[in-house]
Amino acid sequence: MSTYILMKILETAPGRYDKGIRILTLGRLGKAYDRLTSHIRKGQKILDLGCGTGALTIRAAQKAAKVKGIDINSQMLEIAQKRAAEANLAQNVELCEMGVAELGGEESESYDIIMSGLCFSELTEDELLYTLREAKRILKPEGLLLIADEVRPKSISKLILNWLIRVPLVTITYLIAQTTTKAVKNLPEKVEKAGLLIQSIKLSKIEDFIELVGRRPKQGAK
Ligand SMILES: C[S@@+](CC[C@H](N)C(=O)[O-])C[C@H]1O[C@@H](n2cnc3c(N)ncnc32)[C@H](O)[C@@H]1O
Repeated sequence: MSTYILMKILETAPGRYDKGIRILTLGRLGKAYDRLTSHIRKGQKILDLGCGTGALTIRAAQKAAKVKGIDINSQMLEIAQKRAAEANLAQNVELCEMGVAELGGEESESYDIIMSGLCFSELTEDELLYTLREAKRILKPEGLLLIADEVRPKSISKLILNWLIRVPLVTITYLIAQTTTKAVKNLPEKVEKAGLLIQSIKLSKIEDFIELVGRRPKQGAK
């Protein structure tokens, strides 16, 4: 799963992103997204952070949820728009060219679910912490935060293995795309620090990929 780093190269060619990510992850990302979106119910209001070409957005819209996808890459959004139209789901999907730094404009307690696939690993530390705080504000009480992303393993042996795999991939990615991703450190702790509860965590075998379900506490609860 450390091969996710190569997605930064794919992002420079959005037309090839979906096919490339399927090959890179041997279809495992799709399965992780299916598991995460199994929490979505008909009619819910959903926000997809860094929606890209719409992998999570389309899954949510297929469940008759109303989804707003935000992303800073207009070419990725164009593909997401096309996919939604082709799947006859455009009425359930709103796509906005907007960064997580602009989440302050969203109404408090207005979403049932906030989700994000492989976007937190592209944020700066400040953006990430701000996004989690805003997620808590924007979610309705008992609303869910669904995250699938690259994380930094905690055990030393897995961390060393992860570095051995990542260093050459980071170098290749940087040479081609002049950018890279950063596996998120201590994501569950950061989610809790933002005031959300951890409902479940699923880590990959080598602990470098997380599927996290967080929940905003009930109204009145601490
Ligand atoms: C690896 S892609 C994943 C896209 C999609 N979620 C998926 O799983 O296919 C990460 C996306 O996050 C977007 N992104 C990066 N930084 C962002 C930010 N600050 N605000 C919003 N989107 C951002 C990128 O433009 C990119 O489309």
